[in-house]
Amino acid sequence: MNIGVVGVGYVGLVTAAGLARRGHRVACVDVDLRRVDAVNAGTSFLHEPGLEPLLKQVVSEGTLRATTETADGLRGADVVFLCVGTPSAADGGIDLRAVRESAAMVGRTLRDSERYTVVAVKSTVVPGTTEGVVAPLVWEAAGRDRRTIGLAANPEFLREGQAVEDFLQPDRVVIGGIDERSTRTVAGVYAGFSAPVRTVTPRAAETIKYASNALLALLISFSNEIGGLCEAMPDVDVEVVMDALHLDRRLSPMIDGGRLTPEIVRYLKAGCGFGGSCLPKDLRALVRFARGIGANPRLLDAALKVNDTRPDVLVRLAVEELGGVANVPVAVLGLAFKPGTDDLRESPAIPVVDRLVALGARVRAYDPAAGEGARRLWAANPRVQVCDSSAEACVGTRAVILVTAWPDFADLDWDEVRGLMAGTLVIDGRRVLDPVRISQAGFRYRGVGAAGGGIERSMGAAAGE
Ligand code: UGA
Repeated sequence: MNIGVVGVGYVGLVTAAGLARRGHRVACVDVDLRRVDAVNAGTSFLHEPGLEPLLKQVVSEGTLRATTETADGLRGADVVFLCVGTPSAADGGIDLRAVRESAAMVGRTLRDSERYTVVAVKSTVVPGTTEGVVAPLVWEAAGRDRRTIGLAANPEFLREGQAVEDFLQPDRVVIGGIDERSTRTVAGVYAGFSAPVRTVTPRAAETIKYASNALLALLISFSNEIGGLCEAMPDVDVEVVMDALHLDRRLSPMIDGGRLTPEIVRYLKAGCGFGGSCLPKDLRALVRFARGIGANPRLLDAALKVNDTRPDVLVRLAVEELGGVANVPVAVLGLAFKPGTDDLRESPAIPVVDRLVALGARVRAYDPAAGEGARRLWAANPRVQVCDSSAEACVGTRAVILVTAWPDFADLDWDEVRGLMAGTLVIDGRRVLDPVRISQAGFRYRGVGAAGGGIERSMGAAAGE
């Protein structure tokens, strides 16, 4: 099919490349000439595994191209995917400006066409937006017989860092067409994919997207709430609690004497909170939307509140252990919102660094991928130095605080780190470090989710528990 993709951001680029890989002819449209040039050169401006080789392949095969000219990009399109950003608005809802503008622009472009085209909304939008906002804008701008322009909500379920794989092998395809023809046309796009397809109403499709992310956020906040509980008791470690909780056969089914550990279980782990471009934003938007329609989103609201408290736990631990952090050099390891990405958006590392600095600390930070963004973020702050390696970040510091669970950090040579530092405190904000190894290197280990720091459990385990 002929596909147009409006918005060459994270979702748009992966969608465009993935659809081209699946045999469609795809043209992306974006106002940003640098992005358009990058796509046409087969290069990715995103840190996303597998994306660049895929782009190179589909661009060289001629199935993907990019343009700044909407009319050129959308000419002859059977389906146009709206993949523009929906950032948080000041009131917690979503900012629909880009969605509105692109809907009207697509509508104007379709004015002179006679071809049946479906406008499919991939951007994450609150229930009712496709029908209530996008459809009228497209139809009005097109000025054509409404029946010749279809509309659908078709949310994405891509995880950063695994987005290419998620797109090419989706776990589900959700299509909410405004009518049967719209749904059928969008379903045609996914004919070459082997995934269960759910055809629902546009509002249900939009709701499914939010409910999916809300569940992940709830699991994380649930774990962090249990973590907070453990922090307030003398001798209970959240890792011990969650480890046994995971053994519930409904979470990890017993099969042929072994255990299956579904990925969802990964979200049942205490830490310093969720971030990224989706979970916090989507949860806030859903809470606001729910209130707006007279529902009472108590659980969603609480998940956000729990999350907001988590970065502070790390700062409190540092203050408690060091007796204050004024003028104290502290290393922060991991700045991206999760490992495998350079994305800093709503990363818990930001409040951790900012609060440390507000208390007078001098922060030496390192991230394997997000260094460049971090330098820009704290460019005006002389108390934050973004370093080029873990070792460099640790030099002369009195404490190391791990915020993002990059595997590199678990593999650090702690004897070497000890030699670089001026202090002996390690705070594990993700419970991914080995307390025994760290203690043996002469450190005091403090993990979140345990009043005693979490060392007792591993000592027990080491003793053959
Ligand atoms: C999330 C969803 O997982 C995708 O299914 C969805 O399509 C996407 O949002 C979206 O709406 O576009 P992503 O933001 O890439 O994907 O991140 P996740 O891997 O789900 O992680 C989200 C956050 O939870 C990260 O900050 C991560 O560090 C945190 N997290 C995860 C925890 O704090 N604890 C955990 O146990 C697991």
